[in-house]
Amino acid sequence: MTHALQSAHTDHSPAPRFGFGESFTDHMVVMRWTEGQGWGKGEVLPYGDFPMNPAMVGLHYGQVVFEGIKSHRQPDGSIGTFRPDAHARRFQNSARRMAMPVLPEDLFLWAVDELVARDGGRLPEGPNLSLYLRPVMFASEVSLALRPAREYTFVLIAFVTGGFFSDQPDPISVLVSRDVSRAAPGGTGQAKCAGNYAGAFTVQQEAAAVGCQQVVWLDPVERRWIEEMGGMNLFFVRGSGPTAELVTPPLTDTLLPGITRDSLMVLAEEEGLRVTEERTAVDQWQAECESGRITETLACGTAAVVTPVGFVRDGAGSWSIGDGSPGPVSLRLRAALVGAQRGTAPDRHGWVRPSSPRHR
Ligand code: PLP
Ligand code: COI
Repeated sequence: MTHALQSAHTDHSPAPRFGFGESFTDHMVVMRWTEGQGWGKGEVLPYGDFPMNPAMVGLHYGQVVFEGIKSHRQPDGSIGTFRPDAHARRFQNSARRMAMPVLPEDLFLWAVDELVARDGGRLPEGPNLSLYLRPVMFASEVSLALRPAREYTFVLIAFVTGGFFSDQPDPISVLVSRDVSRAAPGGTGQAKCAGNYAGAFTVQQEAAAVGCQQVVWLDPVERRWIEEMGGMNLFFVRGSGPTAELVTPPLTDTLLPGITRDSLMVLAEEEGLRVTEERTAVDQWQAECESGRITETLACGTAAVVTPVGFVRDGAGSWSIGDGSPGPVSLRLRAALVGAQRGTAPDRHGWVRPSSPRHR
């Protein structure tokens, strides 16, 4: 933990900008699985380096899965973690896909509770700050045999973060990837495995070079149906006012089933918005933005929360969404989600896991 982070908790100087995943809290939870013995006892250790053997399976054959979860300060000063049970289940699904052992939900939640208990105090007050928890599991057996490993290590680490792009819902620009696919039918797109992210980096670099913050991935077969972005799902808003409707791409085996996506579908319906899962082609997205039928597009994810998309680049073409500024539906959904996460709205779905009072 850097000095800047420590002092942020105790003084009242303007909040520093927290980089995403650059400065970690003081502890980590570690658990190991071995064939025949299963999961060993978890330990809470000071955050630090691991000894690493160069022949470790995860390093060579990519048996690595991870999650991203957020904890937030609640109005009474305690810390609540948003839907860690859903993240535990997605972590299990990712592990199954990569022939890795399944971490029981109660052990996953134990790890979350332990780390929030130890390090939650590092989370300063601040409407845009949260504690981001990063569980990761990797094959730690030393062997280059081409088979699933017989030993795995689970680690949970945490850092304080503000907004992924900015602390405000500033609209982002995005680049459509026409030639490179993120996932393939029958592949690993549904799993939160490390390789999915490495495979996306080249286009992410191209996007950055033309002033875009994210890549829009299309379906890998016809290369026209919009799927998701590199670290977030997408929603389109059709119409405006009381008749506005939300549309999101249906889940397939080539996109990650976002927990924020699921939460927004529930919250939007509670807000009286009709939500449908329906494919949208990229040329249709452009035509409907230009005709005014699509009024807003928003990205959502644990890191991104709800981030409006303001501008799209697709090859030589480009278009704006609405007037390029954050739309009312995006702002309303963002407020509903943040209210649910931070306990300023009633927790109707039992989504917030409280930390015990001694951990405030
Ligand atoms: N899609 C991808 C590829 C992601 O990495 C993420 C982030 O975890 C999401 C979507 C959004 O998922 P969630 O809302 O569960 O964070
Ligand atoms: C998240 O939103 O938590 C993610 O995992 C996306 C990205 C930062 C990897």
